[in-house]
Amino acid sequence: MRIVPKSAAVPVRTELMAASRVEELKKPVSRSRTIRINFNHPSITPERFMDKFVIRGGNPLVGSIRISGAKNAALPAMAAAILTDEPVILENIPDVRDIQTERNLLVSMGADVELGYGRASHRTTISCKDLVNPEAAYELVKTMRASTLVLGPLLARMGRARVSQPGGCAIGARPIDLHIKGLERLGASIQQEHGYIEARAERLRGGHIIFDKITVTGTEDLMMAATLAQGETIMENCAREPEVVDLAALLTKMGAKITGAGTHTIHIQGVDKLHGARHRIIPDRIEAGTFVIAAVLTGGDLSLTNCDPSHLGALIQKLQECGVSITPTSADTMRVTNGHRLVAADVTTEEYPGFATDMQAQFMALATQAEGTSIITENIFENRFMHAQELARMGANIKVEGRRAIVRGRTSLSSAAVQCSDLRASASLVIAALVADGETILDRVYHIDRGYERIEEKLKSVGAQIRRIGEILPKRAAVPSVVA
Ligand code: UD1
Repeated sequence: MRIVPKSAAVPVRTELMAASRVEELKKPVSRSRTIRINFNHPSITPERFMDKFVIRGGNPLVGSIRISGAKNAALPAMAAAILTDEPVILENIPDVRDIQTERNLLVSMGADVELGYGRASHRTTISCKDLVNPEAAYELVKTMRASTLVLGPLLARMGRARVSQPGGCAIGARPIDLHIKGLERLGASIQQEHGYIEARAERLRGGHIIFDKITVTGTEDLMMAATLAQGETIMENCAREPEVVDLAALLTKMGAKITGAGTHTIHIQGVDKLHGARHRIIPDRIEAGTFVIAAVLTGGDLSLTNCDPSHLGALIQKLQECGVSITPTSADTMRVTNGHRLVAADVTTEEYPGFATDMQAQFMALATQAEGTSIITENIFENRFMHAQELARMGANIKVEGRRAIVRGRTSLSSAAVQCSDLRASASLVIAALVADGETILDRVYHIDRGYERIEEKLKSVGAQIRRIGEILPKRAAVPSVVA
């Protein structure tokens, strides 16, 4: 029997087999025994759905998976719509929780955001004609740090912005001081009070910004702000990630004058007004990389479609060092096979085009099965080894020393109850569970839902034994939001 809670005072477990658990929960299973729940009730928040994954390891992943659009490209693209009063149409938007959060944020400001369904699924049309409230409230920023991406666009278009300070998160301190310093260089006056950043500027003016440190969303935020500034902006020591290049492509379609995106120096000639545009978001390189590692580890034969192998250079090179065969079969398809024994390799995370920090956790899962010892050095974030403890609970031999993790390979992993701590840590636990002996239960998979579109359905379609079970907690037992 599937049970739906009658009263929020009692925790109730709900078995779910389909992707959208809310939709699934809405369906009556047995007329006589179904209890209805009001999903519009304010007490039913997404965080209260404490879904788990149950994964039985041992199956090789064989078949084909379609890669979704990049969450980290879609989020700044949605924020860019603030810069114009005309509609911006974005295609290949992933159906993940962070996109819903960004939608809620834009709607809270007065934007009209239509998320496509049916044939138009994965398309969103955003109209920021009537922005009334240039504010990103704490409630939204705490669940998704990328909400701070609205700071630059709001200031450029409306002359003011009030954005909550994001604070620390599961993977480190993550300040946004470089966004603030950059905006000040463009003439903004910024005050920080009561946990909020209050920014004002009559009209931003071009300036010379040299980032102290390479920052992805910082580069994106400042690039958006500078498009409507008066005069030229030169930004140095910029992030070169494909997502920055994708944002520049959208802004250019909107009428911005940008050169150098994808290099360390970006020039922006400010214009008076931007217009609407239609843009297709690039494929998600981190989702693709996650499936590549899952295929390798399970000894599978997997084709990935709708991906961009050229964005995965550092990962492909590292996996080739480990003895894996990866063949780009066309500009947007690649095939991964692994019939060999994996060999250990050292990895150091770096800014693009180096090895992505967002792939570090998944690589650690792979290192537990490789022949020899791998040393993994995390250079981008200070506290991004939370998954190591959970992998150790499954039998991995990992020693963390500051920013280094020493992983001794060829350890047999066994099933355990493990907890997801952040988005990419969750992905590494899913991968480990796919090769573990027995049935692993992964708790707090809402982290993975932030950035992976129906991961369990995609994995199931290529042979994995994975299912989602849902639990609805009473209001008081709701988990605190931890963001990454
Ligand atoms: C983005 C990605 C995230 C990825 C990260 C690094 C999005 C939505 N998220 O996050 O998935 O893991 O890049 O590739 O695109 N820093 C400062 N001051 C600042 C800004 C950053 O000190 O004002 C530091 C951070 O603490 C971190 C480093 O710079 O140590 C890089 O962070 P950053 O590139 O800004 O990460 P995000 O853009 O938040």
